[in-house]
Amino acid sequence: MSESMIVIAIVGQKGGTGKTTTAIGLAVAASEVGQTAVIIDLDPQANAANWKDRRRVESPAVVSVPPSRLKQTVEAAASHGADFVVIDTPGKSDSAAIEAARVADLVLVPLGPHIFHLETLPGLRDLLRVAGDKPALVVLNGLHPQATKQAEEAKRMIAEIFGFPVCPLHLSRLDIYAETQTTGSTPLEQEPKGRAALELRKLHRFISEQVSKSESPHVENAKLARGA
Ligand SMILES: Nc1ncnc2c1ncn2[C@@H]1O[C@H](COP(=O)(O)OP(=O)(O)O)[C@@H](O)[C@H]1O
Ligand SMILES: [Mg+2]
Repeated sequence: MSESMIVIAIVGQKGGTGKTTTAIGLAVAASEVGQTAVIIDLDPQANAANWKDRRRVESPAVVSVPPSRLKQTVEAAASHGADFVVIDTPGKSDSAAIEAARVADLVLVPLGPHIFHLETLPGLRDLLRVAGDKPALVVLNGLHPQATKQAEEAKRMIAEIFGFPVCPLHLSRLDIYAETQTTGSTPLEQEPKGRAALELRKLHRFISEQVSKSESPHVENAKLARGA
């Protein structure tokens, strides 16, 4: 097992909030810094797995499995030396989201800056409680690239009104996120110095730091296995 494997679950009770976009972006950002990245796709629609089929690059590995196989798949990733595991989930299955949150070190909840998205947060909190109250962060997605004030306002609302931890970084609404997916790519590869690439890299770095600060159970297991 890699000493520092971290497992990120991406959940949310709606479709189209940017779960798959975040999952593939983070996995490619991890690969970019030399980590062995794996996406576990629990969505029967298999958007991440289909993206990988269109891709000409070997990393990240994408495995499509039913939620009942999740635990074994995470263990297999660990024994193959994975550093960074991202679990993508369908918006319509609470049970898949719970399974994913259970095995994760950190749960990310991509949400658009719309009240219909934000009002799913109380339900999500209940769901996360069932999964053992894993550390979770809302990641705002699809914000207008120029609307800095709107971004800060939405973050404040999530924290103050919904009492939900929110990531200080967000992803902007940029065509390149969607365009690159049609060829199995990401903004990181298509426009490495562009804004979207920068956002993804910063998000990957931020969440990696969050997990290492919070003593990931996967990191701890690896230490135990080494007798540390
Ligand atoms: N920040 C963004 N800017 C532009 N398009 C985006 C952004 N995030 C997601 N999209 C597009 O919106 C659609 C839904 O995103 P997706 O990641 O598939 O959501 P989910 O997995 O939550 O259903 C996709 O077509 C995707 O390319
Ligand atoms: Mg998806």
